[in-house]
Amino acid sequence: ETTLGAAAAQSGRYFGTAIASGRLGDSAYTSIASREFNSVTAENEMKIDATEPQRGQFNFTAADRVYNWAVQNGKQVRGHTLAWHSQQPGWMQGLSGSNLRQAMIGHINGVMAHYKGKIRQWDVVNEAFEDGSSGARRDSNLQRTGNDWIEVAFRTARAADPAAKLCYNDYNVEDWNWAKTQAMYRMVRDFKQRGVPIDCVGFQSHFNNGSPYNSNFRTTLQSFAALGVDVAITELDIQGASPTTYAAVTNDCLAVPRCLGITVWGVRDSDSWRREHTPLLFNDNGSKKPAYTAVLNAL
Ligand code: XIL
Repeated sequence: ETTLGAAAAQSGRYFGTAIASGRLGDSAYTSIASREFNSVTAENEMKIDATEPQRGQFNFTAADRVYNWAVQNGKQVRGHTLAWHSQQPGWMQGLSGSNLRQAMIGHINGVMAHYKGKIRQWDVVNEAFEDGSSGARRDSNLQRTGNDWIEVAFRTARAADPAAKLCYNDYNVEDWNWAKTQAMYRMVRDFKQRGVPIDCVGFQSHFNNGSPYNSNFRTTLQSFAALGVDVAITELDIQGASPTTYAAVTNDCLAVPRCLGITVWGVRDSDSWRREHTPLLFNDNGSKKPAYTAVLNAL
């Protein structure tokens, strides 16, 4: 195959990218994105601050720009993200207790209703665990509403759009030996045992010198899949874009039947939130990097 999306499709998977609405007028950007990828995640446009800037007043202008571009170009869409401590609008940042809990539920219902039946996977909850060795939940206004906020989010999401796969998404959970990975594993195992509706786990996979790729990532993916959830690589970027590491990550997904696909977090290095790490598959001028070829050959 000659594109990432077509190559991934040979094994029933997708190869996606994050899309920024502000770049959709850049034809160099859209020509690569439309050619190579068959799944799209809005980089910021479906987040809480973008979609509910005032309480109860939803705005899908930028989100729909990304969604419509994706559908018009034949791509599936991952929804990102409904409940998160970060990129909350000011009104939500100031809430607490049952008021915040109700706001979270209202937000999930409002956004999922707008996209009902249209989103393949939703990142319902993002980044709820703490880094480091504690294995604890991250402190946040949402966490302070009570430890059950995550399962309430998933139950709300299931009722709002029964067709969407509901994912928990996090970073620094790729290395099987990390406490954060084990904490997330225990939560997913508990949810499956108690019938909390969760369908997938997203591994952001922002690899860098501080949190490097480890070959036990495959064990991690296999272990979560064995709990009865799908897995996905949702925001892949690798500091320095080592072709070997990109190929290894690709092979890890391919080795796990329940790995749905891979999303890279941007198109060209210049589009990356970590552009100083040159972590993506395309150069600033749009040419394919060695990592691109490594991924394509692995698929
Ligand atoms: C990042 C975007 O890429 C940036 O443009 C934005 O300024 C901050 O958020 N984990 C996530 C993503 O789940 O939503 C983040 O995206 C990167 C880390």
